[in-house]
Amino acid sequence: MFEEAQYFAPVAKRDDGSVTVELASSHPGFADAVYRERRNAIAALALNHRPGDPIPHAEYTDEEHQVWALVSRELAVKHQVYAIREFLDAAERLGLPKDRIPQLQEVSDLLEPLTGFRYLPAAGLVPLREFYGVLADGFFHSTQYIRHHSVPFYTPEPDIIHEVIGHANTLASSRFAELYRVAGRAARRVETEDALQFISKVFWFTLEFGVMREARELKAYGAGILSSYGEIEEFRGMDIRPLDIKAMGTTEYDITKYQDVLFEVSSFDQLEDVVGSFWASCDDESIARIVAGG
Ligand SMILES: [Fe+2]
Repeated sequence: MFEEAQYFAPVAKRDDGSVTVELASSHPGFADAVYRERRNAIAALALNHRPGDPIPHAEYTDEEHQVWALVSRELAVKHQVYAIREFLDAAERLGLPKDRIPQLQEVSDLLEPLTGFRYLPAAGLVPLREFYGVLADGFFHSTQYIRHHSVPFYTPEPDIIHEVIGHANTLASSRFAELYRVAGRAARRVETEDALQFISKVFWFTLEFGVMREARELKAYGAGILSSYGEIEEFRGMDIRPLDIKAMGTTEYDITKYQDVLFEVSSFDQLEDVVGSFWASCDDESIARIVAGG
């Protein structure tokens, strides 16, 4: 189903300024020349964007707007069943458009008055240190393209549905926004690649794929689950483990398939007390000690 280790499609910028997104042959849009042309144009917008400038306007087709409308409607129904209260309240406050893909600038403008977070366009993979580091300043890197319309409920890459329905709704909560910020400060504080990887894995198993007990039911709060039509129906059947910083920071995960090991928090307070406090205080030494068994 996936090219090995491909998650974000590589983006190449040539000397003549042209930009090419290298979709894998298994990508649903691989054989669609019109889609690929649009992917190249959208990636070029991000590559040419300068911090401080408004996020450039991306063009989408009617079919793509329909993909957003369909997925956003179906996910909203599932969120009522599977999402934690904090997410539902934040999504309500943010008020994303339901019938069309919002421009990232629009998402940013809705978000900033709520929690101070702003969006930045990303052509593809952003280096970990940059991606996490700017969270400390309230910036979130986001891809701007949408999945191929032939398979509206599937994407091999994080697209705007993931970045906005998953992350912007979450970032509209001041409690979540603070957790993103402390994760960013942690990423800036550490110097070694190992410690940075550890921090990003804790982020992966919490803010991307975390689950929480709420009124005895298992709910999701991770943006990766909340933006995935398939995963949101499956997470309760996964291998659910108790929250454990060391286990999260050292468990290998496979980004190309459903996340089968998940870590559960008993409450939002526990998420803040354990994970928030870890990010707030960790450094290279404390992480090395955790890994060594302490
Ligand atoms: Fe994400």
